[in-house]
Amino acid sequence: MMEKPAQTDYPIHDLLRQRYSTLAFDGDRPVEADKLGSLLEAARWAASCFNEQPWRFIVATKRHAAAYQKLLNCIVEGNQVWAKNADILMISVGKQRFTRNDNPNPYGMYDVGQALANLTLQAEAMGLRVHQMGGFDKDKAREVYGIPVGFEPAAAVAIGYPGELGSLDNEALREREASPRVRKPLSDIVFGDRWEQSYSLLE
Ligand SMILES: Cc1cc2nc3c(=O)[nH]c(=O)nc-3n(C[C@H](O)[C@H](O)[C@H](O)COP(=O)(O)O)c2cc1C
Repeated sequence: MMEKPAQTDYPIHDLLRQRYSTLAFDGDRPVEADKLGSLLEAARWAASCFNEQPWRFIVATKRHAAAYQKLLNCIVEGNQVWAKNADILMISVGKQRFTRNDNPNPYGMYDVGQALANLTLQAEAMGLRVHQMGGFDKDKAREVYGIPVGFEPAAAVAIGYPGELGSLDNEALREREASPRVRKPLSDIVFGDRWEQSYSLLE
């Protein structure tokens, strides 16, 4: 199993440090049903604006081959090459309006993202790994799943037990998988007095 822990300036929780968007899933190891339950439970307990819970999840596992293939077919080819090994595939969907008053919910997708972050950390805690994808055909997903107007496909998600680097089909994928995780420095993203004036943690 590959590891590429985040190189941090300050210590963070191991689950956050070790998490990464893997390309190498163990294609032969199914995810236990109760673990899938825990993943969805973790997502369900995310915070959301007005407790709207705008998230919805379309789920398919390899156990049901036709359903799995239907979801895989919504994912772009460049992602399919590695996502096809993940035991679980999902599409997350966000409700665009508040149920309470039918006003637009500007936090809909924000909250779907929070639910996915919960799911991702729950996955790490159970020895699973998650890779989200924008690369999927939203119109196709709408059509084949009957996603109604007022709901927006957010991201496709691949989930499974991590596989070996050597299990990846080609050198380009292996190179991507082995490359370190990179981030902007804190000084580029954290501001104090004014926009783009770095907040000093030490003063
Ligand atoms: C909403 C979203 C969409 C993404 N889309 C793709 C994708 O289509 N294909 C892909 O290989 N990775 C995709 N990623 C993974 C990102 O490239 C990855 O999170 C980023 O490079 C940081 O790497 P890390 O997650 O390993 O830390 C996506 C991630 C998110 C959150």
